Amino acid sequence: MAKTFKYIILGGGVSAGYAAREFAKQGVKPGELAIISKEAVAPYERPALSKAYLFPESPARLPGFHVCVGSGGERLLPEWYTEKGIELILSTEIVKVDLAAKSLISAGGETFSYQILIVATGSTVIRLTDFGVEGADAKNIFYLREVDDADKLYAAIKAKKNGKAVVVGGGYIGLELSAVLKLNNIDVTMVYPEPWCMPRLFTAGIAEFYEGYYANKGVNIIKGTVAVGFTSNSDGEVKEVKLKDGRVLEADIVVVGVGGRPQTVLVKEQVEEEKGGIKTDAFFKTNLSDVYAVGDVATFPLKLYGELRRVEHVDHSRKSAEQAVKAIKAAEEGKTVEEYDYLPYFYSRSFDLSWQFYGDNVGDTVLFGDNNPASSKPKFGTYWIKDGKVVGVFSGRWNS
Ligand code: FDA
Ligand code: NAD
Repeated sequence: MAKTFKYIILGGGVSAGYAAREFAKQGVKPGELAIISKEAVAPYERPALSKAYLFPESPARLPGFHVCVGSGGERLLPEWYTEKGIELILSTEIVKVDLAAKSLISAGGETFSYQILIVATGSTVIRLTDFGVEGADAKNIFYLREVDDADKLYAAIKAKKNGKAVVVGGGYIGLELSAVLKLNNIDVTMVYPEPWCMPRLFTAGIAEFYEGYYANKGVNIIKGTVAVGFTSNSDGEVKEVKLKDGRVLEADIVVVGVGGRPQTVLVKEQVEEEKGGIKTDAFFKTNLSDVYAVGDVATFPLKLYGELRRVEHVDHSRKSAEQAVKAIKAAEEGKTVEEYDYLPYFYSRSFDLSWQFYGDNVGDTVLFGDNNPASSKPKFGTYWIKDGKVVGVFSGRWNS
């Protein structure tokens, strides 16, 4: 017998939590809404995993960072869902979605049916085993997406005290994890193929500051090459990282951050896709009137730039979820809501630094302020200008 709900949110991450809060605000009757998640815990603020969760002293732990604390709201503890009559169906992986039949099937063989589905499955990590990198399945090679991954990495950091880590990738995960490993007194070497770190956002000037700051903190940086193989010891634990340029690095721990991929596989060919994500309108509705997609998986009209985009950051995952729920509830009353009009915003924190970025990183750039990595209180920024208009702003600073 299928368990039936009026609304099902598939995925229990950031956007699921913010969608649940919006449903509760708009009014949802007990038993109408379910969140189905393969994770064992209620929705939480994922950004904590690469930051405070791995701190050597007083690391953040659940229930401390359940949504919606990340945006200054109240924490939604598991009891909150019970009080609201929202079913949290945890540790349940959906393996088949039939959008025509409006049903979902779990790995355990349960069937769930819905009137309205919100796909909120987020991203999955790209693995080195996906490219057949030799030895990439050795123990102590870590990826970071969910709390379970963070627990395994945390245990390895404790087990390999004062050990050596190689961080593969110079993007978000690479920069945030290198910093937190270093804070744990691990000897860190970052390896990435590009001429500078975080090339999908940073200019050479921004990267110069970060690379200098990291080097001053003792992080080794190897650019312009990639990991092509790993060797392990007799316990199957990683021992060495072989680089394409012929160098071999010792490692007790390897952290890989070579990008993510939106998890759209369950609905592939059942719904329209665009730019690798699920195509939606400005209300996060797909081409099927009873299916919505939010967060990392949605390719939506970014009104400001007049084009369809996908955004893989936490602010958008929260806001897209709220927009979808408002639109669903309004439609039930024959009303409409305003179109999503989003100004992209994302941020990162590492060591005692933080940065924020708003807008689009296209056009000419102007660097301003003090970006000397050796300064006692660096504070700088960059803006992007296109067709005579400022279209993006980056602001980086040292936090006292
Ligand atoms: P999210 O990934 O949060 O949730 C997806 C959920 O779906 C998960 O619970 C998953 O288990 C579940 N799921 C997937 N497939 C399923 C299936 N078949 N069955 C059941 N459940 C399924 N952004 C930012 O702006 N600043 C930051 O500092 C950070 N920091 C950061 C750190 C780390 C470690 C990560 C991984 C990501 C960030 N981000 C970030 C990005 C941000 O966290 C991300 O954009 C949002 O979490 C996306 O929210 P979603 O709800 O779309 O996916
Ligand atoms: P990313 O795309 O930011 O960076 C990937 C990096 O790996 C790039 O520098 C890339 O060139 C490099 N790379 C690719 N192949 C490589 C190889 N074979 N060897 C070495 N380097 C290689 O992706 P990520 O850092 O893995 O982050 C994954 C996801 O997590 C993204 O969705 C991101 O938005 C999210 N995230 C965001 C934040 C934040 O916003 N502060 C923090 C952490 C994670």
